[in-house]
Amino acid sequence: MKKPRQLKNNRQLLHNDDLMNTPQISEGKALFDKNCSACHMIRATDQIWLENIVRNNYDKKELYGWIRNSDSVIKSGNKYYNEMFNEFNKVKMTSFPNFTDKEIDEIIEYIKVERSR
Ligand code: HEC
Repeated sequence: MKKPRQLKNNRQLLHNDDLMNTPQISEGKALFDKNCSACHMIRATDQIWLENIVRNNYDKKELYGWIRNSDSVIKSGNKYYNEMFNEFNKVKMTSFPNFTDKEIDEIIEYIKVERSR
């Protein structure tokens, strides 16, 4: 007999509004508002990167690298990021070299929760 599918994590059992009040998500919101919101609108539906995050369609290591130093990712010749860079008329994204993995994870989780509210 097949095992029943397990929920990926308890998160799915909670209502997203309650989640906004958890320390991880409110920390992510604070970081996003302070560092990212000038250029990224979380409610914009035309932004492929947001959709990719919401759909878990990204490589974590690559994303960490991008957020810490987008310039070096561009210079490495990475096709995906170079295409995006060109699409955005070569506007450089700010680098955040001091963000820890934990902080980046908090931002990512916040984006997912905010978008699913
Ligand atoms: C100065 C404006 C600016 C700021 C501030 C900024 N970004 Fe960006 N971001 C961009 C632009 C422009 C792009 C599109 C690529 C390019 O032109 O470099 C981008 C692309 C991205 C991508 C695309 C990656 C993908 O895989 O599709 C992610 C993720 C991202 N930004 C996250 C963030 C996060 C998280 C913050 C805050 C910590 C942030 N950005 C702050 C301008 C900005």
